[in-house]
Amino acid sequence: MPGPALTWELADGVAIVTFDLKDSPVNKFSRAVKDEFLATFTALEQDRAVRAIAVFSGKPDNFIAGADIEEFVTIGSAAEAERLAAEGQEMMDRVTRFPKPVAVGIHGACLGGGLEFALACHYRVATDHPKTQLGLPEVQLGILPGASGCQRLPRLIGARAALDIILAGRSERAPKAFRLGMVDELVHPAILQDITIAAARRLADGWRPRRRRPGGVLAWLLDRNPLGRRLVFRAARRQVLERTKGHYPAPLAALEAVEHGLKHGMAEGLKREARLFGQLAVTDVSRKLVQIFFATTQLKKDFGIPNAPPPTAVQRLAIVGAGFMGSGIAGTAIVQAGVDVRMKDADLPRVATGLAAARAPLDDRLRRHRIAKYEYARLAALLSGGDGYAGFGRADLVIEAVFEDLSVKQQVLREVEAAARDDAVFASNTSTIPIARIAEAARRPERVIGMHFFSPVDRMPLLEVIPAARTAPGVVSTAVGFGRRLGKTVIVVKDTPGFWVNRILAPYANEVGHLLAEGASIEEIDAAAVGFGFPVGPVTLLDEVGLDVAEKVSQVMGAAFGERLQATAGVAALVKAGRLGRKSGRGFYRYGGGKKRGVDPAVYELLGVHPNGGPRLAEILQRLVDGMLNEAARAVGDSVVGTPRDGDIGAIFGFGFPPFRGGPLRHADDLGAARLVAELERLAERYGPRFAPCEVLQEQARRGSKFYP
Ligand code: 3HC
Repeated sequence: MPGPALTWELADGVAIVTFDLKDSPVNKFSRAVKDEFLATFTALEQDRAVRAIAVFSGKPDNFIAGADIEEFVTIGSAAEAERLAAEGQEMMDRVTRFPKPVAVGIHGACLGGGLEFALACHYRVATDHPKTQLGLPEVQLGILPGASGCQRLPRLIGARAALDIILAGRSERAPKAFRLGMVDELVHPAILQDITIAAARRLADGWRPRRRRPGGVLAWLLDRNPLGRRLVFRAARRQVLERTKGHYPAPLAALEAVEHGLKHGMAEGLKREARLFGQLAVTDVSRKLVQIFFATTQLKKDFGIPNAPPPTAVQRLAIVGAGFMGSGIAGTAIVQAGVDVRMKDADLPRVATGLAAARAPLDDRLRRHRIAKYEYARLAALLSGGDGYAGFGRADLVIEAVFEDLSVKQQVLREVEAAARDDAVFASNTSTIPIARIAEAARRPERVIGMHFFSPVDRMPLLEVIPAARTAPGVVSTAVGFGRRLGKTVIVVKDTPGFWVNRILAPYANEVGHLLAEGASIEEIDAAAVGFGFPVGPVTLLDEVGLDVAEKVSQVMGAAFGERLQATAGVAALVKAGRLGRKSGRGFYRYGGGKKRGVDPAVYELLGVHPNGGPRLAEILQRLVDGMLNEAARAVGDSVVGTPRDGDIGAIFGFGFPPFRGGPLRHADDLGAARLVAELERLAERYGPRFAPCEVLQEQARRGSKFYP
């Protein structure tokens, strides 16, 4: 058994309890820790010198990260998981019923079981530090808050606000948590201890904090009155179903746990909560979501190459190209990393537009009171720009985001090399052009790398980092490290056309043209993919990406891989007709007022096709998905990604491959190579050799092996 996680000392009648789990970067609740809590509370109850308790974390930036996820994934049965939740509930109940007051001082992440513990205490103080986040992320792991969170949070802040947090698995920063009533006091980190201890002492002296119940007529109507509450639950259920399309059972179960508790009382609610927790904990969906959590956690430490040297900290960033991507990167860099950003474009009006676009996310934060005015001014001042390379000599990293054309990119590279320091890193934000080709123009090819961001940069969570053959290892670490500072999940991929994401999207997007030619309708194609769990179907995806961009990508892929990844003429025809997708107001769909307005029937005419029933939905889906899985397997065989983990995370974070399926490679494993090969052979026979199963899958089928052994 690990050393004690809890220690305490007495200060003038208050027991100051410190939770510091040894050999772990975060505090978490396991069975052993729970037992230690219970034993400590018993000792504190018996010690007559103790009048009150103040609980803190011993970790510098973390309060409690919740239940130990590694422990609950080992659970084999729903009954055992239910028992685990019930034991957690008992511990929280012990805290709430503790005869001496318990105050808690929160700094850093206070999540899941950690928040449930805080809710069980009698008084909550939190720091106003950005690292202090309070939330119940359980549904993101496919489970629900099972240690009384579904009961305590709605009772504290009202059903509506609680459902907002529980059903989305959201975390709130401390100021918002304070406004919602989740914490009683908000303080500077320097005085957290003193204020919490003082509160504990006052509680021991008989002071009872007065909590405002979430007020107003609306709260009375919707939170406290059974009829109103029914409306709240009905609306929440509808929203959950819209969002999850029935693929994720956890939010609905959480809703049931909250509703049951409010209707039948705390004791009944707890029972239902534990039972549902038990059922969810052993579902395949939960297993997949937990795997994604651990995969992304591992990726936070993985620089993608063996023996990676430590990254150079980027203090100053320079960007060439103030267009949509360039300004997106600039905006993300100031908001997330707080670095100095210098932008360059061909003329000043373009630079001005780019700077304004880069500031947009910041403007939005100011408008929504997420940052203070002085903070806004400080961050906005980090941005500057010009029509020359002035200032580039101070940059540690230069990212080019110019037109997707090899000679243009090479020209920019030459100019940057002349203006930047010898040790600066040059990164190309290309989506398809091999980095080695760009680097052919370089005097210092070892400083050249690819950083493929996805659009819109501030919202898309993935970054592909692409070292070329001659890129120095330190440059890889620097690019990966900086990507992480921008809040991205970073995968390092091989320098081959389309890298990982566009490579595996190619057959999926190309299939649209084949399907339309065979009489499928645009709506059917999209519906098939959405039914599978993609956030949008491939036709909508093409419109979102931009048909001109898609055309460019497909040309590169066709040239590189030949017939297998050759696009049909459809997209090119639409581009020629001025339809560029959402950004131009029309693509396959029409757009107006920022919304998709339905399929444009003129598109069928333009393409010379007629929707006439075409292939069945199941057949459409199999063609879309199997084509992608086949290409993903082939790319793994080509070592485009270092591990299947990177490939799955890339697909999930890059274009929303359904997380509950664990990614394309996990999904291929679930189907089994033998079945997938048989399906592909049938499709190849019927529709052409583009579906011929790749060697990797055939080999797996022969040997009965998998991507994840
Ligand atoms: N259980 C087990 N391990 C955890 C953990 C948890 N709840 N939270 C974090 N860890 C581990 C990570 O796996 C990682 O391990 P490693 O060093 O061996 O790779 C280590 O702690 C550090 O984590 P991060 O690298 O993610 O550290 P960050 O500082 O970037 O982030 C964090 C910290 C915000 C706490 C983030 O780790 C996080 O979001 N954790 C998960 C929180 C969560 O989902 N909690 C709910 C758990 S379920 C629950 O509580 C059920 C209850 O209702 C009964």
